[in-house]
Amino acid sequence: MEAITSILTKTVADAFEKCGYDGSNVTVTTSDRLDLCQFQSNSAFAASKRAKKPPFVVAEEVSKALGENPIFEKAEFAKPGFINLTLTDEYLVAHTNKIISDEHMGIVQAERPDKIILDYGGPNVAKPLHVGHLRPAIIGEAIKRIAIACGHTVIGDIHLGDWGLQIGLVIAELSERYPTYACFTDDFTGDKSEVPEITPEELTEVYPFASNRAKEDREFSLKARVATAELQKGREGYIALWKKIMKVSLKEMRREYDKLNVHFDLWYGESDAEPYVPELLKILTEKGLLRESEGAMVVDVQEETDKAPMPPVIIKKSDDSNIYATTDLATILQRYHKFAPDKMWYVTDKRQELHFTQVFRCAKKAQLVPDEVEFGHFGFGTMNGKDGKPYKTRDGGVMRLGDFIKTVIDGALEKMTESDYVSDEDMEENARRIGVAAIKFGDLINHRAKDYIFDIDKFLSFEGKTGTYILYTVTRINSILKKLGIDPSESRALNGIYTEAERELLLKLSLTTNVFARSLSEKAPNYICENLFDIASLFSTFYHDSRIIDEPDEEKKSSWIALMLLTRKFLCHSLDALGIETVESM
Ligand code: ARG
Repeated sequence: MEAITSILTKTVADAFEKCGYDGSNVTVTTSDRLDLCQFQSNSAFAASKRAKKPPFVVAEEVSKALGENPIFEKAEFAKPGFINLTLTDEYLVAHTNKIISDEHMGIVQAERPDKIILDYGGPNVAKPLHVGHLRPAIIGEAIKRIAIACGHTVIGDIHLGDWGLQIGLVIAELSERYPTYACFTDDFTGDKSEVPEITPEELTEVYPFASNRAKEDREFSLKARVATAELQKGREGYIALWKKIMKVSLKEMRREYDKLNVHFDLWYGESDAEPYVPELLKILTEKGLLRESEGAMVVDVQEETDKAPMPPVIIKKSDDSNIYATTDLATILQRYHKFAPDKMWYVTDKRQELHFTQVFRCAKKAQLVPDEVEFGHFGFGTMNGKDGKPYKTRDGGVMRLGDFIKTVIDGALEKMTESDYVSDEDMEENARRIGVAAIKFGDLINHRAKDYIFDIDKFLSFEGKTGTYILYTVTRINSILKKLGIDPSESRALNGIYTEAERELLLKLSLTTNVFARSLSEKAPNYICENLFDIASLFSTFYHDSRIIDEPDEEKKSSWIALMLLTRKFLCHSLDALGIETVESM
């Protein structure tokens, strides 16, 4: 269905044409002075220049023409040349009723849906997940869902770091702990019994241990490098061990991402791009793009318009090993061959900006994909502690993701026990949802590119721009509906507008599609968070002003119930687009 701003733009453009002006560049925006009007157009200024008339004259003529249209309560001009518009309640109600019966709740669907591969998450196998993995997971999941809500097809790929030095370190360490296993020797036959069993506990412990060891023990460090290279060359015993490590590691990872309600469609890793490296090198060589530089093979990606020097992208290091950029370029080939997407998007820490600029330029230069394929890197800032530095444990260490989630869930549980929480539902599950909502909303309310301070007390608060407040609003509606004996999945039509808060609420709901569009175009879920807060606050005002349950006027009561049902749907739909699950009661 069409957005209200788009309908109004056409209506106003028609009026410009009717008055003899060019209507092709007319725009209509929402007004932030609802006391004056709901919408406004500033297009009289441009038209007046061409017509060589004062802007207010044009604005006056056009607003007169608009005034004849019954959808406007008010169509006025204001000096020096504004056109101020307010819809009739009948029109706003009719438009909202269309939203009620629209399967996408008025969220405009892409006319030509894109197929998008979204690369997010990016954890490294064998290394425990830590708080640094929160933002890529939370933001990536939200961008994926927002794009889907706007009608696109999105394939989320976790892009595991499963092929790097961390695996070599683990192999080197295990080879000393379990020297008798054939997977470390030339006698490996491929039998399962030749590979040691590793428990999740040992895996959690072995990587940090080996990594520290390599810092002091040069011989061990070299051993780990050799093991990495041999693994990448396909040494069978190592591959068998690597598979086992992957299995244990992925199981743990999946559990933690599940807790966060983050779900990947693909669990490919850097290793899956390995088979595409020869093709990549062939293309780069044939196109004459590779050049030697200090023993390494590089591709120049400097462009004329660059203001600062752009370093070449390194494809092969002097020791012949592939590096980060090589893998990302090979992954582009892999993704294109497998899925032929229209867009390839990446969500990572913004400090990787340069890397992605180089990779995208190299991919375009080498024509790894057709010209129309769009690349995008959407970087995020850091989650800091209250001291303004990257979030750490109390003793200054890196906090495990699992411990972090547990702390927040415990905080949520405590809060529920303090309040007069009554629920027959699973308290643990509710605490998880409330805790995760607090984490996610607290993160997403900030523009992704900004740093923010993680503050659990603030994030779990029932007041302010918090996930808890939004979930609470949903549960409040649930409990009113329950008292009225109404099924929340029911949908009803509105009969009219009876209070100012309702009018504002309807306007907000009608404009939610624009918020989704903006969030998607800027890859910035914070606009949806702000909109959720506005909807929840307006609902709260509306509910405060209106005694729904004992309203004697049946028509009014029914309309209010319809508005409650609709508000609830919008809250749930927007939360879902952010990857936040709701609770029945709290
Ligand atoms: N594993 C990488 C890291 O730990 C992140 C991967 C991001 N995605 C990518 N295609 N490079 O930094």
